[in-house]
Amino acid sequence: MLRTWKLTLELEPSSSVPLFVQLARAVVRDIERGRLSPGDALPGTRALALSLGVHRNTVDAAYRELIHQGWAAAEPSRGTFVSRALPVAAPRGFGGTPRQRMPARPGFSLPQEEVAPRLVTPPPRGTLVFNDGAPDVRLAPAVALARAFRRVLTSRARTALRAGDARGEPGLREALAGMLSRTRGLAAGADDVLVTRGSQMALFLVARALVRPGDVVAVEALGYLPAWDALRLAGARLVGLPVDEQGLRVDALQALMAKRPVRAVYVTPHHQYPTTVTLTAARRMELLRVAAEARMAVVEDDYDHEFHYEGRPVLPLASSDRAGCVVYVGSLSKLVAPGLRLGYVVAPAPLVRALAALRTVVDRQGDAPLERALADLLEEGELQRHARKARREYQARRDVLAEALRGELGGCVDFEVPAGGLSLWARVDESLDVEAWAERAASRGVHVTPGRAFALEGRGPSAFRLGFASLTPQELREGVRRLALARPRRG
Ligand SMILES: Cc1ncc(COP(=O)(O)O)c(C=O)c1O
Repeated sequence: MLRTWKLTLELEPSSSVPLFVQLARAVVRDIERGRLSPGDALPGTRALALSLGVHRNTVDAAYRELIHQGWAAAEPSRGTFVSRALPVAAPRGFGGTPRQRMPARPGFSLPQEEVAPRLVTPPPRGTLVFNDGAPDVRLAPAVALARAFRRVLTSRARTALRAGDARGEPGLREALAGMLSRTRGLAAGADDVLVTRGSQMALFLVARALVRPGDVVAVEALGYLPAWDALRLAGARLVGLPVDEQGLRVDALQALMAKRPVRAVYVTPHHQYPTTVTLTAARRMELLRVAAEARMAVVEDDYDHEFHYEGRPVLPLASSDRAGCVVYVGSLSKLVAPGLRLGYVVAPAPLVRALAALRTVVDRQGDAPLERALADLLEEGELQRHARKARREYQARRDVLAEALRGELGGCVDFEVPAGGLSLWARVDESLDVEAWAERAASRGVHVTPGRAFALEGRGPSAFRLGFASLTPQELREGVRRLALARPRRG
């Protein structure tokens, strides 16, 4: 074999792949193709180096790599041979050539997808996006965060780089508990807080911990799909409850509970998603009473608490919960930035421990340096200062949007100026097809999301949810102008 084997190899000296790796890969390719078999001798290093026009050290290095990877074996005073231990179908990993593609499909059957993939294609450049209510990351306290991050990473002890607590960096749990008790009336200590990567992880873990397949979970019938997905994945049967101008209809929940056991209810009481309505005090009290009586969990998603413009923010349900029924979920996605992935759960300590145990299965712990840096920003009051500044800015943007809508679309769009949150719920004259409008708007360079995206069932309401926080006043006016130009004819 030695005499007949001729290495087919075009070395590419300019490639970023070192020559010895190129050479080793070529040998592996020939083994894989069967041009070399187990036990075949490889040429002497001097001869091969000469024939390839490379330094002998290159061939030496390639052979050492092949030996190290198990493709070849050195036999003292005889030379280097293709390993006799190779199976008929040789392993591929190392031999993968740059031109080789990943198989287009797995070589095994996949169970049916439990969650529909939602790969969002970014809109074309220049599109003005009325998003779901994301903050303006251009305002995020990035410099202060970078400074805090640097401090954490370069501290002498580098504590945050060691393996840490699955419940989250202790300083951040302490700082969050302090902030929540000062500003939201929650009687929480650090042990009642679990830090997660975004509130989505919190919702996933809570769903997994609370729900068993077949359990009924009540949700707002116009609501937050990612939370529903988490609940469904845990096996929940979701039942939608109506929402009106006072928020969730608690009487509808009671009617449901009279018919069958309800394991939990998932709610967004502060700024109902997507309608922005605040749950009234009377309904809050009723919801807590009903939950305590039935020993039912209330998952309270308070995702944008800081941004309330009219009067003081309404205190969370969790602040009046004496029965331990409320599982409070919060996020720093709106306050700082959604890309940071920082959320939290506040719940009685045994649930926090159970959630932490579940969390370690997917993610041993969170991003401790980031968590430590954010704790610093909270302790220094930096996040609170940012919240005040951003709140003023977002309130002004909300007013610009409201004015532009009244001016350009007053005849066919109706809304209440939201008391809080980062979005406006615009009800559209039912004689207009909102889906068609959204499509035409996209072709005019403005993105809006029609009501269907928020409906548990059916076609959804004739409405748009218009996030205003991440567009400047000029962008908001221009966005509304484009939206008006794209308005379809009445059906
Ligand atoms: C209802 C609701 N909950 C939670 C979140 C925050 O999600 P996360 O913290 O995972 O970014 C959002 C963000 O859009 C939301 O709209």
